[in-house]
Amino acid sequence: MRVTFRQLKVFETVARLGSFTRAAEELHLSQPTVSMQVKQLVEAVEQPLFEQAGKKIFLTEIGEELHRTCHALFDAWQRFEMTAADMKGLKKGRLRLACVTTAKYFVPRLLGPFCERYPGIDVRFEIANREKILERLSRHEDDLYILGSPPVHFDVVVHPFLDNPLVAVAPSNHALCGLRAIPLERFARERLLVRERGSGTRLATEKFFRDRGIELTAKMEIGSNEAIKQAVAGGLGVSVMSQHELRNEPADSVCVLDVEGFPIARSWYVVHPGDKQLSVVAQAFFRYLQTEARHLLPAIGHDADVVTSRREDCSSGTIPR
Ligand code: PGA
Repeated sequence: MRVTFRQLKVFETVARLGSFTRAAEELHLSQPTVSMQVKQLVEAVEQPLFEQAGKKIFLTEIGEELHRTCHALFDAWQRFEMTAADMKGLKKGRLRLACVTTAKYFVPRLLGPFCERYPGIDVRFEIANREKILERLSRHEDDLYILGSPPVHFDVVVHPFLDNPLVAVAPSNHALCGLRAIPLERFARERLLVRERGSGTRLATEKFFRDRGIELTAKMEIGSNEAIKQAVAGGLGVSVMSQHELRNEPADSVCVLDVEGFPIARSWYVVHPGDKQLSVVAQAFFRYLQTEARHLLPAIGHDADVVTSRREDCSSGTIPR
C-alpha cells in the first residue's frame, strides 16, 4: 500500500471535522487538493473511507479503523519528535546548578561524568550556605538546587538522591574516641564548633539536640567546613559534620565518635521550583542524579566503625565525665 504521511494528515483532519471544506481551511489547502489526497488514499486502501448522507459525510467502518490508526501513528511520531528535540538540546545547552556549601564535597564528582557524556553543555555551579541558596531559589536564579533539607515555604519539586549522614567528630586523641554508646549529654558538654547562621548543617544539628531537650552551652562559630575540620584536628573542640566531608580526610586527623543517636540520618535533595518548566539539560541532570549518584559515589557510612574498632582496646573503658 503506497500511502503518504500527508494523505493521512489530510484524511485525519477531514474525519475529525466531518467536512472537506473545513479541513481545507484548517490545513490552508484548496478543497480540490484535499479531495485529491483523500481519493488517492481510498485507492490505496481499495475501500471507501467516507459515505455521504445528505450533506453530511460519515466514516465507514474501515474509515473509523484508519482514523484510530492515524492517532496512534501521530502520537508515536510526536514522541519521536520530542526525543529528537531532547537529543538535539543535550548537544548544546546550559545547566545552572546551585548547591549548599557542604555539597561541594561530592557534586563535582558527579558533574565530571555528566559533562563527559554531554560535552556541549556549559555548567554554572554556585555554592553558598543554605540561607543564600534559598534566596536564589525564591528568585528562580538557577535550574536546580542541591540541599541537605528541602525548603518548607516554597512550592517546589523535591527528590532525595543520596544519603547524607551527619557524624559526631572529635580530635583523634580525644578521651571519647573509641568508646561505645557515648551519652548525648556527655558529648554536648564538649565545646561544639558550629557553622555560621544560615548553614543547613548547623540548623539540623541544633534541631537534633533541641528535639532531645539538650541545650548546647559551649558553642564556637566558624564559617567554613574546612576550618572546622582543622580546628577539630587541632583540639579546639568537637563538631557535627556530613560524612561526605571526611571522605578524603587522613584517617588519623579526626575521629568519628559513637554517640547515642548518631549518625543523624539525612539525605541530599535535588529541588526545583514547582511552577518552572525544566530545560532539557536540567531534566537530564535531574534524572542522572536520581539514577546514577548512588552508583558513582562509593557508599559511605562505615567510617564510624573503622574508627571505633581502631581503638577497640578502649571500648570497655568508662566514659569520662
Ligand atoms: P550547609 O548545608 O552547607 O549550608 O551547612 C548542608 C546541609 O543542609 O546538609
